[in-house]
Amino acid sequence: MSDDQTTPRASDQKDHRNRPSSKAFVDFITSGWGDRPDLGVTPSPAVPFTAARRARLAEQLPGARLVVPAGSLKVRSNDTDYRFRPHSAFAHLTGLGTDQEPDAVLVLHPVEAGTGDGGGDHHAVLYVRPLAARDTEEFFADARYGEFWVGARPSLDDVTTLTGIEARHVDELRDALAKDVGAGVLLLVVTGSDEAVETLVEAIRAEASSDEAAEADQRTDEDLVRAASELRLVKDEVEVAQMREAVDRTIEGFAEVVHALPRAVAHRRGERVVETTFDAHARLEGNAVGYETIAASGEHATTLHWITNDGEVHEGDLLLLDAGVEVESLYTADVTRTLPVSGTFTEVQRRVYQAVLDAADAAFEVARPGVRFLDVHEAAMRVIAARLAEWGLLPDGVTAEVSLTAEGQQHRRWMVHGTSHHLGLDVHDCAQARRDLYQEGTLEPGMVFTIEPGLYFKADDLAVPEEYRGIGVRIEDDVLVTADGNENLSAALPRDPAAVERWMAEQRG
Ligand code: GLY
Ligand code: MN
Ligand code: MN
Repeated sequence: MSDDQTTPRASDQKDHRNRPSSKAFVDFITSGWGDRPDLGVTPSPAVPFTAARRARLAEQLPGARLVVPAGSLKVRSNDTDYRFRPHSAFAHLTGLGTDQEPDAVLVLHPVEAGTGDGGGDHHAVLYVRPLAARDTEEFFADARYGEFWVGARPSLDDVTTLTGIEARHVDELRDALAKDVGAGVLLLVVTGSDEAVETLVEAIRAEASSDEAAEADQRTDEDLVRAASELRLVKDEVEVAQMREAVDRTIEGFAEVVHALPRAVAHRRGERVVETTFDAHARLEGNAVGYETIAASGEHATTLHWITNDGEVHEGDLLLLDAGVEVESLYTADVTRTLPVSGTFTEVQRRVYQAVLDAADAAFEVARPGVRFLDVHEAAMRVIAARLAEWGLLPDGVTAEVSLTAEGQQHRRWMVHGTSHHLGLDVHDCAQARRDLYQEGTLEPGMVFTIEPGLYFKADDLAVPEEYRGIGVRIEDDVLVTADGNENLSAALPRDPAAVERWMAEQRG
């Protein structure tokens, strides 16, 4: 199916369109339609929570107009777009997920103190491209936005009902953004989401008359980006419920993969059997995968982000599966299990696996409110360094203690990645948060992050005895910090080697 649209694109330079343009055709196709069915939109359960998130963001940047674009459709090739995914800051602040809504822009307008949303000093408006009427050319001719091509989008009323936010036509955006810029209002935009909106903001700033107060204001777009990212460090109860859902759907996907292992072993690209089994489950039960599935068998497991997934799967291999279901609200799990394809670990596989598991358990031991995020990593590293020393793998004269010093770190040859990252709407969530709130930050109830130590011995790693070469193990769980410790959200997926073997046997019947 090709693009018969009217929106200018490179493809329009050569006119391959065969859509009729006769008046008779246009008159006919734009008439004779019944009423549109009611989409049955009801308020999202997230409405009070997203309102609280917006209020907390606005409190940090008083007096500024905050612009949070959903983003635009991205070209995949020529006239074909990727499936739309809104920017995570937009999803967080509106509660909109799945493919909602290309080109929409959330704006938090500054208003007189106490007169804004919830008695605050900001009023939120969502500027959206509403559904075009059936007598417009967009209706039948616009392959990007037209109802004939991509289906009916929500009306302005639907958007307000769903989100609890006033919705207005995106055509009003320019004037709304420009109001009082140059007369005391600072305009800040979340960058990296929608170039057209950023360009519009730049133009408004450039056109605004000089404004001493605004010029003296040191706050920048970066402050907004950072604040929106830091706002997600602690999840509210709706977010935690979504994380639980994402993890539960992910665990089901892992079970599906175990069922598919005989098919994977039989196929010349067994890793693709693993990938597509998990990804099909993610599409069926959620929105999609939260990141490209890593289906790494044998030596491929030593490549941290192996997503080519075109290798064979052999009976004696370990299969490292790192995968997460992203639910419709766009929260994602991020779970890894390293499974013996045969159903039973060999002695050396079990030795490496147990070391990684002990490192993970040590990290779980320390994860509670009040400790630093980095302490979790350090707990895991003490175990990894100790095991490597015990196995005689650290260089001569290097003890585990020496390796653990900042000047040492030799053990990291076999685990170059970190132990943990925040998790939520982005698989690597809160990435723009300041270091003193993230790595150096203190754990608080409601934080969700991964614990994912690993050991990776490449096939040509001459620093380790041959028996270790080609073995890669990672165990990754999703952790919620609670009032007095933590909860392993992915605990229902077995981790202990004996439990993994039992579970695999059960799955295979
Ligand atoms: N799946 C990527 C990661 O574990 O961070
Ligand atoms: Mn991870
Ligand atoms: Mn992962």
